[in-house]
Amino acid sequence: MSSFEAESFGGQRYAMSVEEARQRPEDLVRTLIDIDLQTFAEPTFSPYLAAALLVHGAVYLLRAQDAVIGTCVFARDWERPSEVVMLTMGIRPGWRGRGLGQDFLRQVLTRLAAKGLRSCTVLVGDVNKRAIRVYQDVGFEIADDDAMRDPRSGERYVRLRCVLNSGTPLTALNSRIRDVPVAGPIYADPAPDFEQG
Ligand SMILES: CC(C)(COP(=O)(O)OP(=O)(O)OC[C@H]1O[C@@H](n2cnc3c(N)ncnc32)[C@H](O)[C@@H]1OP(=O)(O)O)[C@@H](O)C(=O)NCCC(=O)NCCS
Repeated sequence: MSSFEAESFGGQRYAMSVEEARQRPEDLVRTLIDIDLQTFAEPTFSPYLAAALLVHGAVYLLRAQDAVIGTCVFARDWERPSEVVMLTMGIRPGWRGRGLGQDFLRQVLTRLAAKGLRSCTVLVGDVNKRAIRVYQDVGFEIADDDAMRDPRSGERYVRLRCVLNSGTPLTALNSRIRDVPVAGPIYADPAPDFEQG
């Protein structure tokens, strides 16, 4: 687990940590669903899907002290097994806009690279400028600016991809919490060759 501190409202300092979810799925299903409901207009997860992703996907948690305040959920791409797809990323509302999303994602990408994964993609609504900014800040580039349309609203989704080169420095940690110590790897470990198939 990597950890760092962030100062929040009223000057209170919180010990922040990033971890891959390893608990029994039933302990985290509610948390995943809660954060998702605070994040998106429509629910992403049923309890079944949340549990299935906790068991078969990869779920990373951002904690402030003991409380989970952010989640990133990943599945492997079927056609490109060395690529992961980020299905959702969410930070609880009161914690947004403080640089935590960028730091969380950088730490998660570093861990994915260390596992041997080569790239990460995400689909995001083209109106979600904040999320696109966060993704581009940590190294994602637009791979397809019209990757999918919402069949009801016509909303355009952009696909972004981040190459997880071994040894590629993930750019410096976020400036807005520069005044607090940030521990943990910011360089990807050399990635072992990934066995496809
Ligand atoms: C997207 C999300 C995870 C980002 O986390 P965060 O902690 O709020 O993000 P950060 O504070 O690290 O960074 C926000 C960046 O967006 C920028 N930003 C904020 N509003 C913006 C806007 N309307 N347009 C462009 N950029 C914007 C900020 O300036 C900052 O970039 P900078 O550091 O280069 O200046 C979080 O806001 C969230 O949970 N949003 C709701 C769910 C969501 O949209 N998830 C992504 C789709 S899966």
